[in-house]
Amino acid sequence: MKQKHYLNRTTILLITTFLLCCAHITLYANTGQYTLTFRDDPASTIVIGWSGDEGTVHYGTVDEGTNHTAYPLTHGVDRIGNAHGHNRKFARLTGLTPNTMYYFVIYDIVGQVSARYKFRTLSDNPNDPVSYITGGDSRDGFKVFGLYVEDCPSGNCLDKRREGNILVSKIRPDFVAFNGDFVMNQITSNTFNEWDQWLNDWQLTISSDGRMYPTMHTQGNHENNQDNFHMFDVPEEEYYALNVNGGLLRLYFLNSEMNACTGTNQLLWFQNDLNMHATGGATEPFWKFAQYHISTFSMGNGYGLVQEQMDCWVNLFEQHNIRMVSESHSHVTKWTYPCKANATKTDFVPDPDGIVYIGEGQWGAPHRELDFPGADKKPYVRDQGVFDSFFFVKVNQDSTTIQCVKFENVNAVTENTGDNLGGNLPNNATVWSPASGDMIIIKNTTLSTPDENDLNNIHVFPNPAIDEVVLEFPQEVSNVKVELYSSLGKLCSSEIVSTKSHTVDLTAACSGVNYIYITEEDGSVQSIKIIKE
Ligand SMILES: [Fe+2]
Repeated sequence: MKQKHYLNRTTILLITTFLLCCAHITLYANTGQYTLTFRDDPASTIVIGWSGDEGTVHYGTVDEGTNHTAYPLTHGVDRIGNAHGHNRKFARLTGLTPNTMYYFVIYDIVGQVSARYKFRTLSDNPNDPVSYITGGDSRDGFKVFGLYVEDCPSGNCLDKRREGNILVSKIRPDFVAFNGDFVMNQITSNTFNEWDQWLNDWQLTISSDGRMYPTMHTQGNHENNQDNFHMFDVPEEEYYALNVNGGLLRLYFLNSEMNACTGTNQLLWFQNDLNMHATGGATEPFWKFAQYHISTFSMGNGYGLVQEQMDCWVNLFEQHNIRMVSESHSHVTKWTYPCKANATKTDFVPDPDGIVYIGEGQWGAPHRELDFPGADKKPYVRDQGVFDSFFFVKVNQDSTTIQCVKFENVNAVTENTGDNLGGNLPNNATVWSPASGDMIIIKNTTLSTPDENDLNNIHVFPNPAIDEVVLEFPQEVSNVKVELYSSLGKLCSSEIVSTKSHTVDLTAACSGVNYIYITEEDGSVQSIKIIKE
């Protein structure tokens, strides 16, 4: 019996060794942790990234499922990225047809085939709209002896990150502009595992039909220099601009880990690129937006002003008609009225011709407190709060709309089904709905004749209001009807206005939510939600 027992143990050991061996082969024969990156023209190129084995991308515009030999095109690995123990393979596809769905599988070196995925190239036609998600800060909370010492309200910051990722899969954006701070990457953490988790969690962004969403990335302060280059194959300098939909939008990705003034390579590149796409020039895009990780003036507790960015970037934004800036880093949420730097370059002030700033990085990262809460809110900040979220931006030639999507009731959100560029949010997504309204609309004033769009950048303040609210039109108006209604539809006041600035008396108005309806001479109407305190 004793001998038999010994043999059994040997057999078990051999079997175990064999299984471990096979498991090892299986692990490295597989590919996984798939990503898509735009590093060049998004209408005709894309980077397919993965972890695991080397392989060949088989692709085409017809869905051949996992039958890799049926795809007409193939492309091998162009580059391998190495960071934090991860070994990333990148196939840089070129010569793609704009605004076209592509299907692909990865056939690896031991003959295994991945699942079938698909992506859509962006357009080369600025008449086509585009919709994208911008947001950042998906790192976990800091822990001591396994316990969070930062505020992760759900008990686990990574759960909220995953909810945001699932929302991506349901929204089906045309791309995701991720604004830095992926993982903790600090001395006490295991950065290999953190990136492993991040890349695994990113697979939740893949829709149920295998559609994937290309990303663009900025560097956060929790990334090492060139982490994004090695993990996603963004351009090596980690600052760049992409031309979206053939001149509809020039999107700048700035690196706030470089000093905005003394990081001269970046600054000179930025100045030059803005000049190359100057307002009024032949290559002027319809829109210019920028994003970077660290907010120029943060609403998060204790962060405040980054003077170098105010001095050396904001002036360029304003000179070159950048209309929207997406920021991150301080784990609170804000959106501003159009605003500009003040005279001393120490803060912003509302200005109808200014820039809308949105942010500041709540893709699951631990929550922070507002620096200017309640009545201390900055006058140029339209709304602020603390909740997990990202922004959904839809760009047409004549207008850009911005919505803030909360990571709430994610499982109940219906997955969009369309694949056309410029889609909308699913109807039951939870959208931030503060008193000032649930959407920011920026009109493209360079396109507009005064008669068409002169009322689309009305500055309304204060809101909430007590006795009166001021409507500041972008220019003098003529015979505009301003009506104040209660939320139940009761007309509280009605006036005909022909000025640039008009004060609405609220003393006779109903308390609570009110709506100001502004009717132009041509009959077009817009409404503004007002809270009367
Ligand atoms: Fe950060």
